[in-house]
Amino acid sequence: MPTARKATLEFHAHPTPGDRLRVDTTLTTVGRTSYTLRHTARAPDGRIIAEAEIAFDCLTSEGDPTPVPQAIVQAFGRRPSVRASETQHLAVRGLAVALDVQGEGSPVLFIHGFPLDRTVWRQVMATLTGWKRIAPDLRGMGLSDAPGKYAITEYGDDLAALLDALHVSKTVICGLSMGGYIAFDLFRRYRDRVRALVLVNTRAEPDTEEARGRRNDMIAMVKRDGTGALAEVLIPQLLAPWSVSALPHVVEQLRGMITGNPAPGIVGALEAMRDRVDSTDLLSTIDVPTLVIAGREDRLIPAAASRTLADAIPSAQLTQIPEAGHLTPLEQPVPTSRVIAEFLDALGPPSS
Ligand code: MLT
Repeated sequence: MPTARKATLEFHAHPTPGDRLRVDTTLTTVGRTSYTLRHTARAPDGRIIAEAEIAFDCLTSEGDPTPVPQAIVQAFGRRPSVRASETQHLAVRGLAVALDVQGEGSPVLFIHGFPLDRTVWRQVMATLTGWKRIAPDLRGMGLSDAPGKYAITEYGDDLAALLDALHVSKTVICGLSMGGYIAFDLFRRYRDRVRALVLVNTRAEPDTEEARGRRNDMIAMVKRDGTGALAEVLIPQLLAPWSVSALPHVVEQLRGMITGNPAPGIVGALEAMRDRVDSTDLLSTIDVPTLVIAGREDRLIPAAASRTLADAIPSAQLTQIPEAGHLTPLEQPVPTSRVIAEFLDALGPPSS
């Protein structure tokens, strides 16, 4: 039985009378027999009102330590610890969008893939000092609201509105897989907001008929069996075999992200990807500096397909990361950060 060992409570600001506070709960550490939950209460404008951190020990009825129940990890999803002051909520197009913002400087917008959340970028973001790193949870994923409507263009409109709310006129856009599909949409419809592109484990082609059928099967499975079943199917597809055997913390973080997402948001993302448009016509028009990153062992997007993508974009550069599957920033954060940092350094300060 979980028993609270230590609790801290900090008040940061007074709420305005009548405010409905939003409380997010994050599992910040989990050991063999203990874990810590952080509760963060925010006002509707995103201000942090109070934070509580409670450390629990799991004990048998005789008082002996016992392993943390798997249900706790599944219920909350484990995420790497982050200061709550770096996670904000902004009201965007009628939704509360959660985002991490770190550092000062020229902006870089990180767009996560499916069925992940902003924390997939945490290790990479931590190293890119000198840049303002912005990583939102897309609608229906992570801690953002899950409304009824999903499409790649909806995600694109959300992000353009988020940039407006942050007073960012132009930014480097770094998209992982589905995040890359959204990056193409932003380039197509919000060209003047895009300073440069980093396309990670992604493709420009739409789904084939066969792939659309697989999306429909996956939608039925999530509705029937929930996100736990999806995690079991996806983990071996998303990670390189080496990552599955040698990086248990990565497997656990990935499972936490997948099972921590609401089923309606996952279903919406599957529909959005299934119905996305072909972006191959865009590639020859991309006239901003572009870096393509591929995982050498990506089972979903073979390294040769990333080579084809880079070849189709004038002056794109390609880097293939060894011992990485489809989730390069999660599986190989050090070389991934290094190659992104080199690309960003070469961009230099913005022209205006
Ligand atoms: C992703 O990582 O975002 C997805 O695997 C992309 C896809 O399924 O097409």
